[in-house]
Amino acid sequence: MKRVLIRGGEVTTAVDRWRGDILIEDGRIAALGAALSADAEIHEAAGLLVLPGGVDVHTHIDYDTGSARTADTFETATRAAAFGGTTTIVDYAFQPRDVPSVAAAFDDWLGRAATACVDVGAHMILTAVTPATLAETRRLVRHGGVTSVKLFMAYPDTLMVDDGALWRVMRQVGDDGGLVCLHAENGPLIQALVEEALAAGHTAPRWHAATRPSCAEGEAVDRAVAVSELAGAPVYLVHLSTREGVEAVARARDRNLPVWAETCPHYLFLDESAYDTDDVEAAAKVVFTPPLRGLEHQRALWRGLATGDLQVISTDHCPFCISETTLTPYHAKRAAEACDFTRIPNGAPGIETRMPLLFDAAVAGRRMDLHRFVALTATNPAKLFGLFPRKGAIAVGSDADLVLFDPDATTTVRASEHHSRVDYSLFEGWSLRGAIRKVFSRGELIVDGAIWRGRAGAGRFLRREASGGL
Ligand code: URP
Ligand code: ZN
Ligand code: ZN
Ligand code: ZN
Repeated sequence: MKRVLIRGGEVTTAVDRWRGDILIEDGRIAALGAALSADAEIHEAAGLLVLPGGVDVHTHIDYDTGSARTADTFETATRAAAFGGTTTIVDYAFQPRDVPSVAAAFDDWLGRAATACVDVGAHMILTAVTPATLAETRRLVRHGGVTSVKLFMAYPDTLMVDDGALWRVMRQVGDDGGLVCLHAENGPLIQALVEEALAAGHTAPRWHAATRPSCAEGEAVDRAVAVSELAGAPVYLVHLSTREGVEAVARARDRNLPVWAETCPHYLFLDESAYDTDDVEAAAKVVFTPPLRGLEHQRALWRGLATGDLQVISTDHCPFCISETTLTPYHAKRAAEACDFTRIPNGAPGIETRMPLLFDAAVAGRRMDLHRFVALTATNPAKLFGLFPRKGAIAVGSDADLVLFDPDATTTVRASEHHSRVDYSLFEGWSLRGAIRKVFSRGELIVDGAIWRGRAGAGRFLRREASGGL
């Protein structure tokens, strides 16, 4: 039996904080106490916080959009995640419209996920809702450990499903104890705005934001809630970015409906002024969906986190290399007028910066306490997606996924020092309070300061349970 002892740290979870020791046996937490002793590999944690490893439930790893592929493999993304204090991810497996077999799409995902360095689960994205895909989805949700399904209300040409399909999927997945995740934006409305912008010659990246107004998110969240209420199913809104979206969620929750929602660091820390540049490359870095918004929206998101109307902060890690993007003929000319914003792949990196950014702004910046920080980044996502208390907790029997964090050190964000394959960070040069010292995945030391001790393929596929809510 392999024993590891983490000694003298400030053990901090979503609900408690105490100074002491954690004994790990064969990857699981075996004992918690004040002065444990054992014949074990010892790690001194005096002066450090010991946190549950982060749980990031929104990533697009090794994902082919049809016109571009995201930059990371499961190996590079999960290594980057680990260096950022995240030890569990739940990634979006994807059933493209031209591959109508959900099972085949999932098997393909599972094959690619085999190189993961930390544990990974999957949600299943459905783009074709038919009796056959519904039957395959039923098997995955009931028996395959894939207890959440994602639908898009946006991207009419490639991903969107209509409201009838929304209702069908919600009713079935809800009956099966699963959770439906929704990208809530009004796709046809946005498409009309995009067509009008292009016809008027508005092609610069700022038009990506201008054609996706905040009301298109708010309307879609209201509609998603109405359909989920009719279906009697819980729903989880991904990457909320607007005041209207948060208010729609709050209205639903005030009516006691099982409605959950996440936001992402870029919406909390950046705003739409990032599009106000003639440097197409700089603006292309912030072309993701939903787009960045004005400060009024940012304030509403922070308020949603404080009131509990938003329960999760995930990354939507969906990175495309700017250097590769600019190689396409389309981006060869850098001038804004030579651009067509609709051809910039949508998405940005974030898997390595989520926890450090949130610690700095939220905890050191006194927007929330350490326990809420842990809840939003680890415990709540683990609970909502059927992983708690195996993940997101420091308790006897839990997986020993742990982060040793120095609250008094400083980290400077530099893409050149990151572990993702992507070639930029949205937060380049930011100086953040706090630093990750060591990271353990099921009791194995995988991050040791700047040294990588993990291994491709060491991560396991997580067969998730039904969502228990919060
Ligand atoms: O721009 C983004 N977010 N790309 C990934 C797909 C999605 O909508 O989440
Ligand atoms: Zn989305
Ligand atoms: Zn996404
Ligand atoms: Zn776009």
